[in-house]
Amino acid sequence: MTADIKHADVELRDAIQAFVADFSHADLERFKPGIAQWSDQWQGVPATHLPAADFLPDSLETASHEIKPMVELLARHANDVKWEQTYTKADSAISEKMLTTYGFVEVIGSRGPFVSDQVRSGIGVYGPGIGYPPHQHKAEEIYIVLAGGAEYRLAGQPPRHAKPGDLVFVPSMLTHGFYTSDEAMVVYYIWQAGDLREVSTFV
Ligand SMILES: [Fe+2]
Repeated sequence: MTADIKHADVELRDAIQAFVADFSHADLERFKPGIAQWSDQWQGVPATHLPAADFLPDSLETASHEIKPMVELLARHANDVKWEQTYTKADSAISEKMLTTYGFVEVIGSRGPFVSDQVRSGIGVYGPGIGYPPHQHKAEEIYIVLAGGAEYRLAGQPPRHAKPGDLVFVPSMLTHGFYTSDEAMVVYYIWQAGDLREVSTFV
């Protein structure tokens, strides 16, 4: 491992690996090997900031006991990590409100900081009262709510409110979206078995 590897990246990786190993849910089992086998290949990514990061202190209030450490860790390192967005103003399906309040921090993925072409994983923040419109992608996906909550809509299933500690599994190409409550939602996410940087298709 590189000598000057960023401390924040290592702490986040270790926390995620421990979190996934300890989290018991049938739908998570198929994702566990990919998380456990993360390589030590690391590349530095420049720290950036997005307004989404500013929700983290309040999110600590709604994080449940078991998952609070994950939110605390991200809050502590909020200025040491790269906040990203996939969508831009050119994506007409995405509201201005979502663009100004969402962001994610990738911990493992094709662009690092821990490099993998198999798994994409990190933590996302979605502001209060936003709708993530129905979309699909080839990768199968896991969301575990860490703080706040949302009403998830998955094609063919009744709407479901997900709160801290709840897991939502999205099979490959299944249309899905959500509406956050009046608090920001913090989620841990995993993608696997697909193009890890595919831009979702709105349907
Ligand atoms: Fe998705």
